[in-house]
Amino acid sequence: MPRTALPRPAAISSAEYRARRQALMTALPEHSAVLISAASLVTRNRDSEYAFRQDSDFHYLSGFPEPDALLVLLPGRGAGESVLFCQEKDAFKEAWTGMRIGAEAAVTAYGVDEAYENDDRDALLPELLEGRETLYLPLDDGEMLALVESLRAELAPQARRGERTPRAFADVAPLIHERRLIKSEVELGLMRHAARISAQAHRRAMQNVSPGLLEYQLQAELEHEFVWHGARAPAYATIVGGGANACVLHYIENSAALRDGDLVLIDAGGEFDLYAGDITRTFPVNGRFTPAQRELYEVVLEAQCRAVAAVAPGTTLSAIHDGVVRDLTTGLIRLGLLEGPLEGPLEERIADDGYRRFFLHATSHWLGLDVHDVGTYRVDGEPRALAPGMVLTVEPGLYIPDAEDIPEAYRGMGIRIEDDVVVTATGHEVLTADVPKEVAEIEALMCDG
Ligand code: GLY
Ligand code: MN
Ligand code: MN
Repeated sequence: MPRTALPRPAAISSAEYRARRQALMTALPEHSAVLISAASLVTRNRDSEYAFRQDSDFHYLSGFPEPDALLVLLPGRGAGESVLFCQEKDAFKEAWTGMRIGAEAAVTAYGVDEAYENDDRDALLPELLEGRETLYLPLDDGEMLALVESLRAELAPQARRGERTPRAFADVAPLIHERRLIKSEVELGLMRHAARISAQAHRRAMQNVSPGLLEYQLQAELEHEFVWHGARAPAYATIVGGGANACVLHYIENSAALRDGDLVLIDAGGEFDLYAGDITRTFPVNGRFTPAQRELYEVVLEAQCRAVAAVAPGTTLSAIHDGVVRDLTTGLIRLGLLEGPLEGPLEERIADDGYRRFFLHATSHWLGLDVHDVGTYRVDGEPRALAPGMVLTVEPGLYIPDAEDIPEAYRGMGIRIEDDVVVTATGHEVLTADVPKEVAEIEALMCDG
């Protein structure tokens, strides 16, 4: 029976890209300009290149999907505030590597005010930047810094005559990142879609795992599902770790055989229209949790569910993490993995960092165009309060070393459960609820289909 594709959500409109540029320009002081580059193609080996992935900040402001482009924002310029430089139309090159948008279509399809080919850039840029004093650019972009240094040299005569020319550089990244932190309705539609595809991929993995399968074969099940639904690349390197491999937080080797009686941890998400899904599930290779696996799993699950339930405007990731530490520490003491008071305050165990032997990462990160998305976690030294439109992950885990002092039943177990959650006006929405995480639901999906 032919499969049905999930309905495609609305794409970001050129009006939304324009509004983002306007909002950024509104935040700039007088006599300033923004310069931001597209990503470049990167050689993989000899004539082969890595698949192109646009720079997230450049994409956020332009939606323009090609390499080797430059966006210049000139607040208050009567002739047009947004100027794009892009690759030239070239029939020969296009015959090899595909259609190029070109300057003319860049204006009509992407809503910039003016567009020129890259060949015109060096001649036009000094003119465009006349009268601009502060240039906002990504200060970690070495090529961009070299470009503006050469522009300053070119504008030196004007500077000597006392005319206003670029004399200060400032980092544009924090201004863009503060805006990227709050997702629009259309962005949330794309993230819902990335999450749904990712959830479907995890379901497929649960339904297709069996002892003896290699970790990368399970990876293939997930990535098949991503691509089939139009999430053309994973949002980050897929992690499939059987047994103790699950204790390596960024295990991407994915080459071992999955063993009967072990758990397997999968951390994988598809990228749709550049927005990331990011899901982790941990389940038994043979479809049934052992009693010890189940005990440890329930500790992580309870901490995870309570953390998800706590997501709401006004709370902080730091407060959510503290709740997770408390719940995991309680569970570790109960299972005999940590010494400590079974009753009474846990403060001692929390303060002495005993739990860190088993849980050493943060509970959450922002999610969006980047899997570890942009936006600071603290404001004026204090944890940032959650607000509607923010998207975050909730991903506690326990990773039990294979060590002599650990009760044998738990040795070498790694468990993480991760969902993607939007902060709404009244609480939260879980984007990744389509993939089970309760023990009974997982076993039912794996054993009964
Ligand atoms: N997959 C990376 C993370 O969960 O943070
Ligand atoms: Mn994550
Ligand atoms: Mn993840």
